[in-house]
Amino acid sequence: MIGKKMEAALNEQIKEELASAYLYLSMSAHFAAEGWDGMAGWMRVQAQEEQEHAMRLFDHIVERGGKVKLHALPAPEAKWASPLAAFQAAHKHEQHITACIHSLVDLAVKEKDHAAGAMLQWFVTEQVEEEDHASKAVQLLKLMGSEGRGLVIADHELGRRVAEKD
Ligand code: FEO
Repeated sequence: MIGKKMEAALNEQIKEELASAYLYLSMSAHFAAEGWDGMAGWMRVQAQEEQEHAMRLFDHIVERGGKVKLHALPAPEAKWASPLAAFQAAHKHEQHITACIHSLVDLAVKEKDHAAGAMLQWFVTEQVEEEDHASKAVQLLKLMGSEGRGLVIADHELGRRVAEKD
C-alpha cells in the first residue's frame, strides 16, 4: 500500500508530466503552423513520451492500492520568438522536471518507500536522456543558424526523430 505523502507527490508529478505533454503539443502546433514540419514532428514525439511517463506513475499508484487524482493543467504558451527559443524553453523545462524527479527520490528515501524509489530510478536515467535530447537540438539550431538553408536542414534533421521503445 502506498503512503499518503508519496501518493500525493506522485499525483503531482502526473500533472507535471501531462503539463509537459501539453507544452510540447503546443510547440508542435506552433511549428506546424509556421511550416516547420520536422520540428513539429519532434515535439509531437516528445509529447507522446510525456504521456507515457504520466501513465507509468498512474500505474504505480494503482498497483499499490492508491488513488490517482488528476489536477487541472495550466494553459501552455502558444508562441515562441524562434525555433531556437522554443527548444531552449524545452531544455529549461526538462531541467525543471529533473529537479521534480530528484525531489521525489529524496521523498522516497525519507519515507523509506523502496518500491517508489525503485520505480523512480527509471525516471532519473530517463531525465539524463531528456535533457540531452533537448540540449542537442539547441546545439544543432545554434550551429545551423536562425534562417535560410541552415534552418531548413535543421528542421529536416530534427524531423528524423521517431518514438523510442523503453
Ligand atoms: Fe517526462 Fe520530459 O520528462
